[in-house]
Amino acid sequence: MAVREWDPASATDAEIESVVAALNEVLATDLPGDPHWQNTGMREYLSETMPGERRVCWLTDGDPPGRATGHANLLLLGDIGVVEVLVHPGARHQGVGSALLDAVVRRAYSEGLASIGVEAVGGTPAMKFWESLGFRCPYVEMRSVLDLSTVDRGSVRAMAAAPDGYRVEFHPGGLPDSLLEAYAAAKASRREAESGELELRPSSYDAQRLAESLTTLNRRGMKPYLVLAVHEPSGAVAALTEVVTPAQHPSRADQYDTIVAPAHQGRGLERTIKARMLTELRAVEPRVTEVQTWNALANDPMAEVNAELGFHPDREWREYEADVLDLVRQLNTAS
Ligand SMILES: CC(C)(COP(=O)(O)OP(=O)(O)OC[C@H]1O[C@@H](n2cnc3c(N)ncnc32)[C@H](O)[C@@H]1OP(=O)(O)O)[C@@H](O)C(=O)NCCC(=O)NCCS
Repeated sequence: MAVREWDPASATDAEIESVVAALNEVLATDLPGDPHWQNTGMREYLSETMPGERRVCWLTDGDPPGRATGHANLLLLGDIGVVEVLVHPGARHQGVGSALLDAVVRRAYSEGLASIGVEAVGGTPAMKFWESLGFRCPYVEMRSVLDLSTVDRGSVRAMAAAPDGYRVEFHPGGLPDSLLEAYAAAKASRREAESGELELRPSSYDAQRLAESLTTLNRRGMKPYLVLAVHEPSGAVAALTEVVTPAQHPSRADQYDTIVAPAHQGRGLERTIKARMLTELRAVEPRVTEVQTWNALANDPMAEVNAELGFHPDREWREYEADVLDLVRQLNTAS
C-alpha cells in the first residue's frame, strides 16, 4: 500500500474528514466508551504546533482513494520525536501500521532524532505492535474518568475552600502576564521532584514557553482553564491544575497537570484546586459531561483525591520509546 505525506494545513476538507472518520472507527473498537471526535478545529489540531516544533503527517488511502485506512504523525521536539499511528480496524493485520511506521522512522533518522516515543492504550493491539518492534515501556499511567452527573455539588463546593494563607484563582483561556513567571516556577519545582515520565507532553518551565503553550492550545481548538492557589504572604503559585476543553470532543475535558509545589504540600491544596475547577467548569462549560485525567500508578497522592471526587480508573496509558538507530537497523534487516 502507498504511504503518502500530507499537510493538514493545505489538505482538502475531504482528507481531513477521512482522518476523523478513521479515528472514530479506531475509538469505537479500542476505546468504546470514549466520545467520538467531530471535525471542528481538526485541521488546526493537526497542523498547529508550538514555535520551533513541526509535525509531519502521513496517510494511507483505501479503496476508493480518499478514505484513509491509516494515519501517522511525527512531532519533532528537539532530538526526540512523538509518534501517533492509527489504522482503521477494517484494514489491520495487513501491514498498514508497519508501512506507516517505516515512513516515520526514515524521517526520524533523516531529521537526526535520537529516539521516538509513543503513547499506547493498555489492552489494545497497539501494545503488541510497539513491543514487537522492540519499544521499551519505562512509564505507565492510569487514566481515570469522572462522570460529572455523579458529582455532589455541595460536597465539592465545600472541598474547594482554600486553607488559611492561600487564595484560589480561576483563569479561563490563559493567564495574565503578571502570573506567568510564578506559574512556570511552580511547574519547574515539581519537575525536579519527579522522574521517570517521558517528555511526550512537554511541560512549560519558563514564562515565555508557558505563554506560547497556552496560545498554541487555543490555536489547536483546545481551550485551557487554569485554577491556581496563590500563597498570599509570598505571592508564589503554590498549586495549579489545568483543564482543556477540546473543540474536537467538547463533552469530555482533559485534566492535564495538577501540581503542588514541594514547599506547599500537606495542606490539601490538590483537593482544593481540583474541586474548584469542577465547580467552575460546570458554570462556564455546560457541554462538558466528563473529565479525564492521568496519574502515575504508584504512590500518587493525586489518585486519592481523584477517588474522593468520583474519578474511576479506566485504562492504562503506556509510554513507549525506542532509539531511532535501532529501529533503522531493524527496518534494513527486514527489507
Ligand atoms: C497498532 C496498530 C497501529 C497496528 O496496525 P496494523 O496495520 O494492524 O499493524 P501491522 O499489520 O503492520 O502489524 C505489524 C505487527 O504488529 C504486531 N501486531 C499488530 N497488531 C497485533 C495484535 N492485535 N496482536 C498481536 N500483535 C499485533 C504483529 O507483530 C504484526 O506483525 P504480523 O502481522 O506479521 O504478525 C493498529 O492496531 C491501531 O491503529 N491501533 C489503534 C492505535 C490507537 O492509538 N488506539 C488508541 C485509541 S485512539
